[in-house]
Amino acid sequence: MDLRLRGKRALVTGSSRGIGRAIAHSLADLKVDVAINYLRGRNRAEETAREIEGRGVRCLLVKGNVANPDHVEKIFATIDQEWGGLEMVISNAASGVLKSAKELTMHHFDWAMHINAAALLPIIQNFVKLDSKGEKTVVAVSSLGAVRAIPNYTAVGASKAALESMVRHLAAELAPDGVRINAVSAGTVDTDALLHFPNREELLEAARLRTPAGRLLSPQDVANTVIYLCTEYASMIHGQTIIVDGGYSILA
Ligand SMILES: NC(=O)c1ccc[n+]([C@@H]2O[C@H](COP(=O)([O-])OP(=O)(O)OC[C@H]3O[C@@H](n4cnc5c(N)ncnc54)[C@H](OP(=O)(O)O)[C@@H]3O)[C@@H](O)[C@H]2O)c1
Repeated sequence: MDLRLRGKRALVTGSSRGIGRAIAHSLADLKVDVAINYLRGRNRAEETAREIEGRGVRCLLVKGNVANPDHVEKIFATIDQEWGGLEMVISNAASGVLKSAKELTMHHFDWAMHINAAALLPIIQNFVKLDSKGEKTVVAVSSLGAVRAIPNYTAVGASKAALESMVRHLAAELAPDGVRINAVSAGTVDTDALLHFPNREELLEAARLRTPAGRLLSPQDVANTVIYLCTEYASMIHGQTIIVDGGYSILA
């Protein structure tokens, strides 16, 4: 099937590794130019950039903290200068402190809120100013913790709930301007992010056992849904959060 994304340009935040990297690979496989955003891990970002270029498309490395509006502005200015426009943004970068609510400080809470939710605002504000060839699409990556209680996940879960709400509000406001905004909410995926969970092995095994589809979710499973939402086949999907979890969350 031709997904008709060839020749478009995308920014994927937090795409040096994990789910963002799988999304960047998938876009490049469909002949989309990809801007790779990262914060600290330059080597991983450069490695991913080489993989993207190896797929025969252009790749830009745009370092910056998505929680800092000045960095976000600079990221979009670089893209505008180098490419002269952008059609897709995948807001995927995330961080957070995993602690019991009794130990969580307001600094931890603000950290998660700024990176995982508030960052979407300057991202969209800068994106709408850029030229594009046709429709603009935004996909934010969320998690089941937005609507379910996960141990030690209070700050991140709340930030993801805020993110999903922002997606609805921004989608309604910006649809008339030709910007289509959605979210993909993923179940547990074995990435570096899980190294921060004290009970990583237990978590993965529990997810594997409970998932009706019979296996753990992969970064590619999430990327596939993100790609679909970027295509014109999803042109009437606005402001939604699509769950990708192999059926995990439908069980009582
Ligand atoms: N893994 C899961 O089980 C799971 C489940 C549901 C949803 N998700 C969501 O999927 C997305 C990706 O998660 P992941 O597991 O792939 O994460 P990951 O492996 O920890 O990768 C995080 C990426 O984000 C970048 N990053 C972190 N903070 C940043 C910031 N402030 N500004 C810019 N870039 C930043 C990192 O770059 P550096 O290395 O340079 O810092 C890295 O490229 C997140 O939104 C996450 O909440 C993950």
